[in-house]
Amino acid sequence: MIVLGIETSCDETAAAICSNGKILSNIVSQQLVHSKFGGVIPEIASREHELLLNQVVNRAMFESGTKLKELNAISVTQGPGLAGTLLTGISFAKGLGLGLGIPVVPVNHLEGHIFANFLANEKLEFPFVCLLVSGGHTQLWAIQNMSEYILLGETRDDAAGEAFDKGARILDLSYPGGPEIEKAAIGGNPEKVHFPRSLISKDSLEFSFSGLKTSLLYYMDDFKETKSIKLNDVIASYQKAIIDVLVEKVYRALSITGFKTCIIAGGVAANQSLRKELSSVLDSKEIIFPELSFCTDNAAMIGYVGELKLKNGNYESINFSVKPNLKLI
Ligand code: KG4
Ligand code: ZN
Repeated sequence: MIVLGIETSCDETAAAICSNGKILSNIVSQQLVHSKFGGVIPEIASREHELLLNQVVNRAMFESGTKLKELNAISVTQGPGLAGTLLTGISFAKGLGLGLGIPVVPVNHLEGHIFANFLANEKLEFPFVCLLVSGGHTQLWAIQNMSEYILLGETRDDAAGEAFDKGARILDLSYPGGPEIEKAAIGGNPEKVHFPRSLISKDSLEFSFSGLKTSLLYYMDDFKETKSIKLNDVIASYQKAIIDVLVEKVYRALSITGFKTCIIAGGVAANQSLRKELSSVLDSKEIIFPELSFCTDNAAMIGYVGELKLKNGNYESINFSVKPNLKLI
């Protein structure tokens, strides 16, 4: 089976070819136009997708050596995401699917992030804990099987990705903030500044990052670099405060569920310090991260889940619409 995956939920225009669980091509065009605004401008993002989709899909077809007539199906992100950007991908997919006479399968973007971990480890077995950490989500899930999910906890306010993005804005770094903070923290001492870790109560699996962001804002109000505290110390300390909370909650989730494996999904999973810290603190457990190119938004994960749904016969074709607020359950 050969499936074309299309992803346009935010500011990455992406297409990929997935065949029998293997990714044959994975093209992502990140819209750099937003970085000067410090965040994604929805109207501009939709126009950029509309402009780029044809080229990105053509490249994915070309790099995988696939001809249009060889495609068995198209899968496309239905939500969650920005309504206008999702519409561009869905309209493109429906037009192409109708023209080729093949099914068009809607995929939940969050399921895409979770199942990208099967691309990292084909032998991954249910059940497992999933830490879903992206620009819009910070959630802990018990994943029992495909479509059997139990929410263990989530953020009460900002998502971890937002803590990176908003922190970057306070620090005059560009968007997206995660990779910028990660770079700027290099060489800094993460123990220099004590930023708060909101752990809520002892067994809670909920998160809260808004106090941390406010604390950085106040700290930077009268911060001047000195010999003993450099800017990269502050940035490394801020990053560590986010990571410490994520690691502690994953530890708790594994203890509470008794599961042996945790997968990390979403853009923040690309963070190397998070990867190192989780692997070292939880060294008796199996911690799985997707390959870097499958952490942030991509269409490989959409093609992969689309193919699974087709194989299970579990999908609606063509008569579906955009769902900007789609949840996992
Ligand atoms: O999954 P994703 O690409 O898009 C959403 O579905 O939201 O996640 C984007 C988020 C952004 O907040 C971005 O700052 C963060 O992931 N991110 C990172 C890193 N790369 C992306 N955060 C920390 N470290 C990174 N290396
Ligand atoms: Zn995402």
